[in-house]
Amino acid sequence: MVFKFPEENWQVLLNPERESWQSVEEFFKVVKPKGDEVWADIGCGPGYFTLPLARRVKKVYAIDSSPFMLSKCLERAKEEVLGNVETLGCDEERIPLGDKSIDVSLLANLFHELLKPEDFIEEVRRITRERVIIVDWHPVPSPAGPPLEERVPKEEVLRFMEMRRFRLLEDSPVFPYHYLLIFEP
Ligand SMILES: C[S@@+](CC[C@H](N)C(=O)[O-])C[C@H]1O[C@@H](n2cnc3c(N)ncnc32)[C@H](O)[C@@H]1O
Repeated sequence: MVFKFPEENWQVLLNPERESWQSVEEFFKVVKPKGDEVWADIGCGPGYFTLPLARRVKKVYAIDSSPFMLSKCLERAKEEVLGNVETLGCDEERIPLGDKSIDVSLLANLFHELLKPEDFIEEVRRITRERVIIVDWHPVPSPAGPPLEERVPKEEVLRFMEMRRFRLLEDSPVFPYHYLLIFEP
């Protein structure tokens, strides 16, 4: 079994301290979201990335397997009067979006939670036109995050993606405790 983030701890994901080690503004400097793009924030949780993204791009599909997380994300988007966030439930095998309907898919702190990464990444490829971004924890001591033994090292993700012919576009060291990898699907 893999470690699944306990949804009752959702507020941990919005702890203001997180900005000091996973700054969304620094993330944007690397991934350069554009105003005409449609993004999928897959495993969005309560929307740490979703809301700031929605202020920069045309539309964000906030996707999660947890209805509770989706309700928190939508509640927060409504509070901030962001009309371009649409929440969608998914399971491990199916993301309910059309082929190549998304410009950029973001999997932030999700990869290590996937039960069937092989199937899931093919679904991500199916829906994505331009870029797939994977952000996840290095297996090193950190102020938050899953148990070290549950984290997937960057080299393993790189091998996994390369075997499936995702082309690496960027490997950014922008975060101290996370890798940030950008692939062409
Ligand atoms: C650690 S949280 C990260 C949330 C958000 N991306 C962030 O960085 O703050 C992981 C999220 O992924 C969701 N999740 C786990 N497995 C999933 C799957 N197969 N498909 C979609 N969401 C999933 C969980 O419900 C949880 O909301």
